[in-house]
Amino acid sequence: MILYDDTPLAQFLKKDELEKTKAEAQNALEILKSRDGAGNEFLGWLDLPFQKKVDLQAIQSVADEIRQGDNLLVCIGIGGSYLGARAVIEAIYGNRHSIRFAGHHLSPLGLKELLDELENRDFYVNVISKSGTTTEPGIAFRILKEYTEQRYGDDTQKRIITTTDANRGALLSLAKKEGYRRFVIPDDVGGRFSVLTAVGLLPILSAGIALDDILAGAIAGMNQSLENCHKNMALRYAANRIALYRSGKKIEILANFEPRLHSLTEWWKQLYGESEGKNAQGLFPAAVDLTTDLHSMGQWIQDAERSIFETFLTIGRYEHDFILKAADDDADQLNYLAGKSLSYVNQKAYEGTREAHLDGAVPSSSFSLEKLDARHIFELMMIYEVGIALSGYMAGVNPFDQPGVEAYKNNMFRLLGKPGFSS
Ligand code: PA5
Repeated sequence: MILYDDTPLAQFLKKDELEKTKAEAQNALEILKSRDGAGNEFLGWLDLPFQKKVDLQAIQSVADEIRQGDNLLVCIGIGGSYLGARAVIEAIYGNRHSIRFAGHHLSPLGLKELLDELENRDFYVNVISKSGTTTEPGIAFRILKEYTEQRYGDDTQKRIITTTDANRGALLSLAKKEGYRRFVIPDDVGGRFSVLTAVGLLPILSAGIALDDILAGAIAGMNQSLENCHKNMALRYAANRIALYRSGKKIEILANFEPRLHSLTEWWKQLYGESEGKNAQGLFPAAVDLTTDLHSMGQWIQDAERSIFETFLTIGRYEHDFILKAADDDADQLNYLAGKSLSYVNQKAYEGTREAHLDGAVPSSSFSLEKLDARHIFELMMIYEVGIALSGYMAGVNPFDQPGVEAYKNNMFRLLGKPGFSS
């Protein structure tokens, strides 16, 4: 179960303002469901939990093959082509898993570190790019393809799997030429909404997460988010954040109290930033890992310009916990915590932080996951996906395009001397 507590917002938002944005969110939900709104050619993600367009068996079968033996899977992709998988895998396994990510930066050091690790391991490569032409994953793949060929020779074809558009792009041409196995990213699903296609599912299933749990969570999250009722968390969340934006808040901070949710907040940043930040408007999506960042960003959040609001992410129950014991000499003066669990201390840290920030005029609401598992993560992801679609429609923007992402690429291509990009 996921709970959304927005009661603290009552002291910051006027009732009639909130009623107004709730009515707007309901209207946005009807537009989304009727598939008549802006960007409606990219609404395929609404169907993904119910799996009408993805060959799950084929993805599971390749994942099973990768899981046989002691293989690493190197996933090459950037933005929507890697953040969803990384968010889910790290939420469930932390840093202890068999998936490596590449092609999301241009650092020689990062790539060298990966190649060093591959020296002693067997591996598969999954190169993921919807457009099939993105520079960062393209360069990483060129280097990893050569490395794979040196290592596996004639077996290379089996070791490289591509995930790309069905009909377009340089990666598709290369995959056809080399005879690599191919998965398709549906035309009507944008990168940041693609976690339930092969983009996210091949890495996630290869890491060992069960498909049934994924789908159970996604179906629960999507069904409740499309329901026109006052309990709908996606709708309430969208109404609240737009009301806060209109009241003068400029930055939304997604604050987790579980380090394993760090990459989920990175996924959320792309989802919200690319969907909403256009036409000279939109909340800036920021994130902090707590309690860690209370010792670096706490001062700013408590006391700086009051342009922020917070959305907390907490975990209700942990499968593993530590009970603190009393020490004979109490030299560290922590005996007052004897008998308490670490998760209890974390919960009190959250409650104390929320109270302090409310006193410091930082409005907040919170999503609380009953436990940290695939079911709850996918339920939350669907709530967030619908939440940003509604927010975008309420703000009058197309939440499904990202024209601004092209600007840096054109400059980079000109500076690199790419044909057709003259100075
Ligand atoms: O949201 C988006 O569409 C972008 O951020 C893309 O995910 C990112 O640029 C990667 O694109 P591609 O999958 O085409 O390589």
